[in-house]
Amino acid sequence: MIGLPDFPWDRLTPLKERAQEHPDGIVDLSVGTPVDPVPAVVRQALAEASDSPGYPLTYGTERLRAAAAGWLRRRHGVALDPANVLPLIGSKELVAWLPTLLGIGPGQRVILPELAYPTYDVGARLAGAEPYATDGLLALGPEAVPLVWVNSPSNPTGRVLPVDHLRKVVAWARERGAIVASDECYIELGWEEQPISILHPDVCGDSHEGLLAVHSLSKRSNLAGYRAGFMAGDPALIQRLLEVRKHAGMIMPGPVQAAMAVALDDDEHAEEQRARYAARRAVLRPALEAAGWKIEHSTAGLYLWASNGTDCWEQVRALADKGILVAPGDFYGKAGEAHIRIAVTASDERISAAVRRLQ
Ligand SMILES: Cc1ncc(COP(=O)(O)O)c(C=O)c1O
Repeated sequence: MIGLPDFPWDRLTPLKERAQEHPDGIVDLSVGTPVDPVPAVVRQALAEASDSPGYPLTYGTERLRAAAAGWLRRRHGVALDPANVLPLIGSKELVAWLPTLLGIGPGQRVILPELAYPTYDVGARLAGAEPYATDGLLALGPEAVPLVWVNSPSNPTGRVLPVDHLRKVVAWARERGAIVASDECYIELGWEEQPISILHPDVCGDSHEGLLAVHSLSKRSNLAGYRAGFMAGDPALIQRLLEVRKHAGMIMPGPVQAAMAVALDDDEHAEEQRARYAARRAVLRPALEAAGWKIEHSTAGLYLWASNGTDCWEQVRALADKGILVAPGDFYGKAGEAHIRIAVTASDERISAAVRRLQ
C-alpha cells in the first residue's frame, strides 16, 4: 500500500458531534461544499444528454473544448486554441494524479504552497515523489524541479497572488524547465481583489509553454456532484497528458460533458451564485470580527482565514460549543496552527444562525 497521511477530516468528528448537540442544530462551515441548486439550464442539458450508450472521448467533445476556451477568453482574458483544453473528472482528480501522469517519481520534489489544499501533497506521494511545501522558490537553490503548484485564490487563505508574483514564478520555472500547474478553481470568486490566470498574457507573455491552468465547475456552477473540471495550457503537455489519460480511462462521462459546456457558456447563473456568496460573506465576516477573530487575506474565494491568537483546535472547540463547525488551520500545513478556516458555503438560514450565535 502507498503510505499516505491519515484523512484529516476524521480528526474533526468528535467536534462535529459536539456541534450537532446544539438545540438549533449544527452550522457546518468546515467544508466548501456547495449547498445551492444546480442551475436549471445545466440540469436540462444533463437530462437531454442522458441517452448516452457509447464511450465518450477522453479529449471531450469539440463543443466542450470550445466552451472552455470561450469562457477563458470572455471571463479571464486568456486566448487559447480549444485544442489545448482537456476535461477532468473534477479538478481533485488531476491534483492527485498529475505528478504520476507526468512520470515524476522518487528523488524528485514537487513544490506546493506552505498553506495548501492537502491533495497537492497526496499527489506527490502517490507518484513516489517528495512533496515540498514552500512559498520561497528562490531559497530552493539550483536543483532541478519537475513541477510547481500555485493556487490563487488560495484554499485555505483566500489570498490572491499578484501579477508580479506569478510572473516571477513563471520566469523561475522556465529557467529550469519546471512545469507550473496553477489551480484556479476559485478564480471567479474575487472580492476585494481580482485573481488573474497564469495563462494571461500579463503573466506569461505570448506563450503557454510549461504552463497548465486547472479549472473547476464545482464552485462557480454548483457542480461538485457532477465532477466537472478542465485543464488548459501548453499544447505539448496537453497532448502528452491526453495520451496517458486515454490509456488510464480518465474519461469525463458524456452527459456531464454536455452539461458542463452549457454551464461554461452561461454567466447568468454564475453571477447569481456569486451574489449569494457575497451576501453570506458580508454578514459572517463582521460577526467573526466582533467576536474576536482577525481575518487575514481572504480577499477572494470561499473561505475566511481567521485567528484569535490561540491554538487552532482551541478555536475550533470554542465554535463547536456554539454549534458552529469550522476547519482547523493545521489541516493545511504547520503554518496554520493558529488559524481556522471558515467556509461561506452554507444556506442563508444557517449563516444567519451562525451570526446570531457569534453575538
Ligand atoms: C484548491 C482546490 N483545488 C481543487 C479542489 C477540487 O475541486 P473539484 O474536484 O470539485 O473540482 C478543491 C476543492 O475544494 C480545492 O479547494
